[in-house]
Amino acid sequence: MQPVALLLLCPLAAALSGAGGPGGGPGGSRRAGHFWHVTDLHWDPDYEAAAGAGQPCPSGGPRAGPPAGPWGSYLCDAPWRLLLAAARAMSGLLPRPDFVLWTGDDTPHVPDEKLGEEKVLHIIENLTSLIKETFPDTKVYAAMGNHDFHPKNQFPGRKHRIYNRTAELWRPWLSDASIPLFRAGAFYSEKLPGTNARGRMVVLNTNLYYDQNDETAGEEDPGGQFQWLEETLTNASRADEMVYIVGHVPPGFFEKKRGKSWFRSRANERYLEIVRKHHRVIAAQFFGHHHTDSFRMFYSDTGSPINVMFLAPGVTPWKTTLPGVNNGANNPGIRVVDYDPDTLQVLDMVTYYFNLSRANMMAPTWEEFPAWEEEYRLTEAFQVPDGSARSMQAVLEGLWQGRLLQLYHQFNSVSYDLSPCEGPCRLDHVCAIREVDFTKYKECTSSTGSAIASVGLLFFCFLLGCLSAQQVL
Ligand SMILES: *[C@@H]1O[C@H](CO)[C@@H](O)[C@H](O)[C@H]1NC(C)=O
Ligand SMILES: *[C@@H]1O[C@H](CO)[C@@H](O)[C@H](O)[C@H]1NC(C)=O
Ligand SMILES: *[C@@H]1O[C@H](CO)[C@@H](O)[C@H](O)[C@H]1NC(C)=O
Ligand SMILES: *[C@@H]1O[C@H](CO)[C@@H](O)[C@H](O)[C@H]1NC(C)=O
Ligand SMILES: [Zn+2]
Ligand SMILES: [Zn+2]
Repeated sequence: MQPVALLLLCPLAAALSGAGGPGGGPGGSRRAGHFWHVTDLHWDPDYEAAAGAGQPCPSGGPRAGPPAGPWGSYLCDAPWRLLLAAARAMSGLLPRPDFVLWTGDDTPHVPDEKLGEEKVLHIIENLTSLIKETFPDTKVYAAMGNHDFHPKNQFPGRKHRIYNRTAELWRPWLSDASIPLFRAGAFYSEKLPGTNARGRMVVLNTNLYYDQNDETAGEEDPGGQFQWLEETLTNASRADEMVYIVGHVPPGFFEKKRGKSWFRSRANERYLEIVRKHHRVIAAQFFGHHHTDSFRMFYSDTGSPINVMFLAPGVTPWKTTLPGVNNGANNPGIRVVDYDPDTLQVLDMVTYYFNLSRANMMAPTWEEFPAWEEEYRLTEAFQVPDGSARSMQAVLEGLWQGRLLQLYHQFNSVSYDLSPCEGPCRLDHVCAIREVDFTKYKECTSSTGSAIASVGLLFFCFLLGCLSAQQVL
């Protein structure tokens, strides 16, 4: 373990000793803080037993695949050993982050009948212990994912046993004021730790807006969360605070399947309205659920970029079973965000990944613990000064122009899918990033989509003109 730990520490040491620190900017006045964002661990507790018996993993469903590998398999959720490897990599790379964001989805992709409330809670408890042991003295902001409930997705907008039990598991991380809020709807807001009084974390339970959630169907504002969010943001503005909004299920569309959204339409609108109205106090948004590495842009009525949501890649490599998704697996990924502790501005992001196929080919023992490598650093890979909305708009323009498309596409699957992104692929990504709004997304994918796919260069140039007017270029 010793040499490994040393090896793992090297990139961080290098990063920290860099002139002005990561994202230090020309003035060098911005001192960066750092936090982890991990999401979608999806532990498959029966993976090892199945692999040992020569059986397919339970989370693979009916799909036949190669024998389950020692570190995991692209058709399966994470074996314990992969989660332990992720935890060790995190404590090796950055053992003392300012805090950790953990945005949910702990249980395997298996039918509800194979889980049950106690098993779901046991899995949440086990992963909570893993994170607590990895970061014993660190504040963790944990959000519930749609798989962290039984039956899955069915989160009510009122008190529930599972909220109660989860609040107990997370009590060491929650303030006293957050406990009753969490019990009543699994959302809360707290001041960031440290001397800085200006930072606030807002953790949402957006599972309440998921269209698969029958418990909240027909409710205008389940759990009163929207009203609470507005009040929280108004209060933050009065107190001169800046906030991060954190959650699991994001608004908008899945970039790997055209037209696939998660929120109910009215909730999607309301979320967008709130971000537009309060964007000045929202420094950034961090979500999971897609298992892919992407981002979402938010615009003012006049089309200026006013906010950005970062979607962090999952730790599970599990290939999605959504029909119509091409090759929808990913390498396990974890991410460090560099930020300005005074303004909460995102300065940079480093994503680390585990090349699962390589790890499985190497002699798979802890003595030869395969390293989690730096996949990319945002500012270097995309040539932007920071992770602001303006910078991410420049990245989006680079995707649209094609300059950054292939790179972004590789990172989207955490360097699992290295195939070229052509034809509809580009439009799917660009429209999903640019249009969180349902109507605008449809316009983006339909009008330009069929045209770009079927017509030649001349018409394409004409479209570029249209899109330019809509702030794409
Ligand atoms: C979590 O599960 C792993 C694998 O079964 C086990 O080694 C570990 O002791 C468990 N931890 C807790 C706190 O239950
Ligand atoms: C949640 O826990 C509190 C305090 O322990 C208890 O009063 C309440 O009845 C519990 N609610 C549910 C739904 O289990
Ligand atoms: C907003 O501030 C008011 C006045 O301090 C307080 O009563 C209220 O509870 C706060 N709302 C939220 C959601 O924190
Ligand atoms: C991951 O490892 C496999 C097998 O060694 C290799 O073919 C592939 O190129 C690697 N991926 C990356 C992004 O390096
Ligand atoms: Zn997930
Ligand atoms: Zn999810």
